[in-house]
Amino acid sequence: MSDKLEDMRRTHSCGELNPNDVGKEVVLMGWVNRRRDHGGVIFVDLRDREGITQVVFNPAVNREVHDKAQGIRNEYVLAVRGKVESRPDDMINPKLKTGQIEVMVNELKILNRARSLPFMIEDDIDVSETVRLRYRHLDLRRPKMQKNLIIRHRATAAVRSYLNDNGFLEIETPFLTRSTPEGARDYLVPSRVNPGLFYALPQSPQMFKQLFMISGYDRYYQIVRCFRDEDLRADRQPEFTQIDIEMSFVGEQDVINLTEGMMAAVFKEVSGIELARPFPRLTHFEALNRYGLDKPDIRFGLELKDISDIVENSRFKVFSEAVQKGGVVKALNAKGCIDFSRKEIDDLTNLVSVYRAKGMAWIKVREDDWQSPIVKFFTSREKQQLMNRIEMEPGDLVFFVGDQPSIVNEALGHLRNQLGKQLGLIDENEYRFVWITQFPMFEYDEAEKRLQALHHPFTSPMDEDQSKLTEDPLSVKARAYDLVLNGFEIGGGSIRNHKRNVQEKVFEALGLDKDTYENKFGFLLSALESGAPPHGGIALGFDRIVMLLCGEASIREVIAFPKTQKAACLLTGAPSAATKDQLEELNIRIRKVP
Ligand code: AMO
Ligand code: AMP
Repeated sequence: MSDKLEDMRRTHSCGELNPNDVGKEVVLMGWVNRRRDHGGVIFVDLRDREGITQVVFNPAVNREVHDKAQGIRNEYVLAVRGKVESRPDDMINPKLKTGQIEVMVNELKILNRARSLPFMIEDDIDVSETVRLRYRHLDLRRPKMQKNLIIRHRATAAVRSYLNDNGFLEIETPFLTRSTPEGARDYLVPSRVNPGLFYALPQSPQMFKQLFMISGYDRYYQIVRCFRDEDLRADRQPEFTQIDIEMSFVGEQDVINLTEGMMAAVFKEVSGIELARPFPRLTHFEALNRYGLDKPDIRFGLELKDISDIVENSRFKVFSEAVQKGGVVKALNAKGCIDFSRKEIDDLTNLVSVYRAKGMAWIKVREDDWQSPIVKFFTSREKQQLMNRIEMEPGDLVFFVGDQPSIVNEALGHLRNQLGKQLGLIDENEYRFVWITQFPMFEYDEAEKRLQALHHPFTSPMDEDQSKLTEDPLSVKARAYDLVLNGFEIGGGSIRNHKRNVQEKVFEALGLDKDTYENKFGFLLSALESGAPPHGGIALGFDRIVMLLCGEASIREVIAFPKTQKAACLLTGAPSAATKDQLEELNIRIRKVP
């Protein structure tokens, strides 16, 4: 008997057989998940992406096949033909979808062998992520990873179906293109035929999708790869996928409605979850003020309280000086945490120091007094005011940070997220969306000593703020919106500048002179003069959405071949050196790498 496949055709997947199939002759193909030898009878769990079926090699049924089965090892690839039988009552495996049946084999082909592998193909493996990424093809064989990528596929399908039904066209845009400013560094690609010149991989298709609107392709979308050379984190990859959307003749509300409808369709389709709509909204100011972050996790309370006015003249210099220098002092009341140890408080202090807080004061609220390194500084009036503002009750532990607002908010915002987790305040099964609106148009970049666009420079300022673009740009609000889910920014967009003069004013506010913006964006400016309709859109971070749908903590768990912290692919060994000839052809000389 040959081990070629020609005369065998697969009839079922390993996950689909059930008691209705009893008596049928079936052909299954898959991987050996486990092999057990029970005194003469060999049991093999045969696995494919749909599940596992137990197949049985009994010498009493077919001795030759049974003998051959003795050579089977884990992860061998098999084809088996046999009859579906009910398992005896005491052999039923309720944990297995196919646990009521088994297949009695009378023909076996070993399609391929496998050497012993670096880890078991099962969900709970105890190996480092480095090893998993090095052998990603095996890691992806594990049921959990297969489930994640299947969910990803279903989410893609649901997005396409929703947008197609709503009159959107899916159109592709180039990867070899000019820089699109989204706030990260570009990945550059040298041009062989234009020595010394480079393409930039798109940080997003922003300019192209606006050009589509000008060309009359109202309602565009693309599920598209974007490239950003930035520092990586659990929710950031150098290449990632956006659901990119643009619409003509719309305002904020239209884009928001469309997005909510799409998210509802995806969650329903993929997880059977009905999302409550409309999603709540917070202004950017309110988000920072109450939660410290522009991507607040609103599954729990624990809001920050501004106490600047109370401590402005306090004898505790750290606080009073912070306020007098234009900063703020805010408090976070960890209810009932009076028993936190010194070490627990130190750990949290270390956490906020990552966000540049120079220190963190605390008060433990007892029945009759406060325990705190700073209690001696406060008058009884100040104490009373603090009690009221922070709603302090016996048993509470209150944390304080005083500094510039950006530092205080970031530090306490992250402390809040940490305490939310640590104190079990978060319902992990809940999905809480929130729109953040009324963003400032610009922020001041300390390092570069100039304004930066908070979203991107194509965002339209609010109509009533346009006159302030030159005089007082930092007070200008943008027609921008971000979508946040469970503390992750999963999308952002805006209504765009469709008039050349407004777009030019924005460039000028960003400190670009006419030559520079003409050179970089002249094609867009000229297109705006050729009958550009009012338009706007959004891009959603698809990897982050799938991560949250899968209940994962990192987008690397939902990307087939992700990169490491150092932007490397451990499987293929990218990035790698180019040959001398390649470099020669591209006119590139490599300086000695330190
Ligand atoms: P923005 O830069 O906000 O907007 O990107 C949209 C969304 O993409 C996701 N995202 C990322 N996901 C993984 N890894 C990354 N490195 C990464 N960077 C961003 C986030 C983010 O909300 N052109 C505009 C959209 C528009 O204005 O229509 C844009 O790209 O979830
Ligand atoms: P010090 O007087 O420097 O010993 O600080 C007294 C307390 O104030 C300590 O608990 C410090 O952690 C805390 N502290 C120092 N700087 C700050 C700050 N910027 N915000 C809040 N608390 C601070």
